Amino acid sequence: MSQDLVELAKRRGFFLGTAGAYGGVAGFYTYGPAGASLKDNIENAWRDRFTVQEGNMEVDAPTVMPEAVFEASGHLDGFDDMLVDCPECGESHRADHVVEDNTDIEEAEGLPIERIEAVIAEYELVCPSCGAGLAGQAVEPFNLMFETNIGPGSSSPGYLRPETAQGIFVEFPQLAEYARNQLPFGVTQIGRAYRNEISPRKSLLRVREFTQAELELFVDPEEDVPDLSDVADVVAPFYSAEAQYAEDGQPRELSVQEAVDEGVVADPWIAYYLGIAAEWYERIGVDMSRFRYRQHLDGERAHYAADCWDAESEVDGDWIELAGFAYRSDYDLSKHREHSDEEYTVFKQYDEPVTVERPTVDPDMSYLGPEFGGAAADVADALETLAERDPDAFREAGATDDVNVTVEIDGESYAVPVDRTGFAVEEVTESGEHILPHVVEPSLGIDRALYTVLDHCYREDEVDGEARTYLALPPEVAPTTVGVFPLMDRDGLGERAREMAADLRAHGLSVAYDDSGAIGRRYRRQDEVGTPFCVTVDYATIGERADDETREGGGDGDEPGTVTVRERDSTAQVRVAIEDLGATLTALRDGDLRFEDL
Ligand code: GAP
Repeated sequence: MSQDLVELAKRRGFFLGTAGAYGGVAGFYTYGPAGASLKDNIENAWRDRFTVQEGNMEVDAPTVMPEAVFEASGHLDGFDDMLVDCPECGESHRADHVVEDNTDIEEAEGLPIERIEAVIAEYELVCPSCGAGLAGQAVEPFNLMFETNIGPGSSSPGYLRPETAQGIFVEFPQLAEYARNQLPFGVTQIGRAYRNEISPRKSLLRVREFTQAELELFVDPEEDVPDLSDVADVVAPFYSAEAQYAEDGQPRELSVQEAVDEGVVADPWIAYYLGIAAEWYERIGVDMSRFRYRQHLDGERAHYAADCWDAESEVDGDWIELAGFAYRSDYDLSKHREHSDEEYTVFKQYDEPVTVERPTVDPDMSYLGPEFGGAAADVADALETLAERDPDAFREAGATDDVNVTVEIDGESYAVPVDRTGFAVEEVTESGEHILPHVVEPSLGIDRALYTVLDHCYREDEVDGEARTYLALPPEVAPTTVGVFPLMDRDGLGERAREMAADLRAHGLSVAYDDSGAIGRRYRRQDEVGTPFCVTVDYATIGERADDETREGGGDGDEPGTVTVRERDSTAQVRVAIEDLGATLTALRDGDLRFEDL
């Protein structure tokens, strides 16, 4: 993001560093009025595509969760970045970033700690803050979770969620009920996530509090496949792990269908969401010639992901991660099942009931009790588990002279005569089975999308011999849709323009009213915040003729009862009848009408 744009972002109320009055706090940003509105519009566009149009359910979970949730999810153990402290100035740095910024290693995050230490020593890397050598400094794992206490005292630790996803996974049993236990079903959530980043950087790109828009799709891995027809022709650059490992490997422009057919994207669900997301990023204003999909390298994937692709955009010559598309398999549901008292399965009904053989045991407790004392109940349980897992152990024992079945409990062996186990194989008719769904997850960062959109929509040109800067934001996401100006605040023009602004607001449009300064200046102000349309109320609007040169509008051809509508990018102007104005601007905003067709 150029310095000019950073200044524009602050000056025009997109975003600013938080608590500047108190020296600021790294990694936290406040969205100003224009930024908050742009962010809302991006979130609503996401909601429209990923929740409404996909027929998914949206939830809104708390940002603080008890410790048990993150013990189960693996975040307390495995959600670490690599930290290296400077021996001179004491500043902490992300060791993998120090490596990436100063060597030709591009993805250091996936390297083991020992390798990072070795690279720091080998390249004699120095502290980015003070220049002291870092060789020989220990690189330590640093957990990114923000800890807090729930209620007074410290007996009930809680954590700010590092991803919105866990708020969906923990409630899976209830959510499955809402979905009438029918797979596949998707649950979405837009909300804040928190990570105590070691070194927040590049403005909104790496912050400690950010917004995620996540979809967790629960599928039957054996049966559910997506209908790719809607996205089959969507084309994007795919940069596979194989191409990244190759000496001169490059991203390949492929359609989603080709990516699946050629095995570039192994999972069709991931491919489906890559197609949807590419269209969505274009819709909100990302320049698709500066966009690509990149597969994670081995070692780069999160602890839960079996395969993962990132959406990346180019900003200032760097590729930044906008989103991750992960195949999480049954990792999350199996962990919550293991750690809680709930079942995280759904009942899958067979088309036809099937008859199966089910091995059972009915241990003779009058034998097990005296023989094994306090361990008897555990031995009975172990026999049941063994019968399910390895019924042949009972069959083989019965067929040989050695008639004992042996089970192990805590390293101790217990031998039970097979005729005391009550082993039998029953024929049962089953109408279905309990299965653990797999999860496919598109996880988008809203702040990085917003930052990219601002950067990719920033334009400089010349209008009437004067330099101008503007944001070519798509009307759907622009913070303000219409600027309404009276030509001058006199002769009733201001009054009429204020009435018109109120009328347009009543149509659900976001409107800025401005009557200060020359009309050209007012256009520039709206151009700078990306307002796609401006309406000017002039003498024709109020049914008067322009009888001197200060009275624009009302000239020949300017129909009474019309206003001028000016389009931001082309600066072209047309006259529109007042009674059509609300409907016309709404259609322009929603993409149902093009300005050039007016
Ligand atoms: N539930 C999966 C998950 O959280 P992730 O790749 O860690 O996956 C998803 O995060 C997205 O969240 C990223 O692609 C990025 O856009 C955004 N994100 C992650 N950490 C961020 C940070 N510190 N600052 C801003 N955005 C961040």
